[in-house]
Amino acid sequence: MAALMRRYSAGARWYDVLSGERLVYRAGRQTGIRLLAPGSGEVVIDLGCGTGLNFAPLLAATGPSGIVIGIDRSAEMLAVAQRRIDREGWSDRVRLIRADAAELRPEDVARAVTDLRGDGDGRADAVFATYSLSVITEREEAWRRARACLRPGARACIVDMQPPHGVWRVLSPLARLACATGGADISARPWRMLERDAVDPSSVRRAERKGGHIVAVAATLASGSPL
Ligand SMILES: C[S@@+](CC[C@H](N)C(=O)[O-])C[C@H]1O[C@@H](n2cnc3c(N)ncnc32)[C@H](O)[C@@H]1O
Repeated sequence: MAALMRRYSAGARWYDVLSGERLVYRAGRQTGIRLLAPGSGEVVIDLGCGTGLNFAPLLAATGPSGIVIGIDRSAEMLAVAQRRIDREGWSDRVRLIRADAAELRPEDVARAVTDLRGDGDGRADAVFATYSLSVITEREEAWRRARACLRPGARACIVDMQPPHGVWRVLSPLARLACATGGADISARPWRMLERDAVDPSSVRRAERKGGHIVAVAATLASGSPL
């Protein structure tokens, strides 16, 4: 786990260029946002937000009163995210919380939301997790804690990776290498937690990109139990 932390700390400055974003992973991000369909003025938690590559599309989708709360354990990844916020003038709409997702405190999220919004109970409308839950080792606990930050009837979208299939299987070694480089467990299939916790199976929407290497699943959640 310490080795993984060092990897993201050391690589934070180069993450956007070296992570395969343009060629491969942006497609999953875009598909995830489309499936999540954040509404105008909604509060979205970006779990394992990294350098903040989701912020622009999330803010575009939620409109001028939408809010994003980015959570990540790496100070260096968050420093890049904060520079992005400052550069783009998003400081009244995006707040960062440095935390291990498996120790996330809903009261910290609620404080960040009410700081930005000044009304409401600070609960979020949705959680978006792109390529992070396969990296987070205690993913069940992280997921439980993220759900505890949400209002009843909230939605979630998990975008993550698996080996490609069909004719694309030839690219499997490359996909495995990319995942191993990023410390991701390619067999974790974290979207299954969302499929399991959906309020009903008909709310689940799923799409695959890049030969099945990227899976995006969105659903309305059943109410999570408080921590
Ligand atoms: C592959 S990056 C994905 C970043 C971003 N979501 C994206 O789509 O570009 C994984 C991120 O998860 C973060 N992370 C890993 N373990 C974590 C944990 N236990 N709690 C919070 N963040 C964690 C890393 O610091 C890193 O920023």
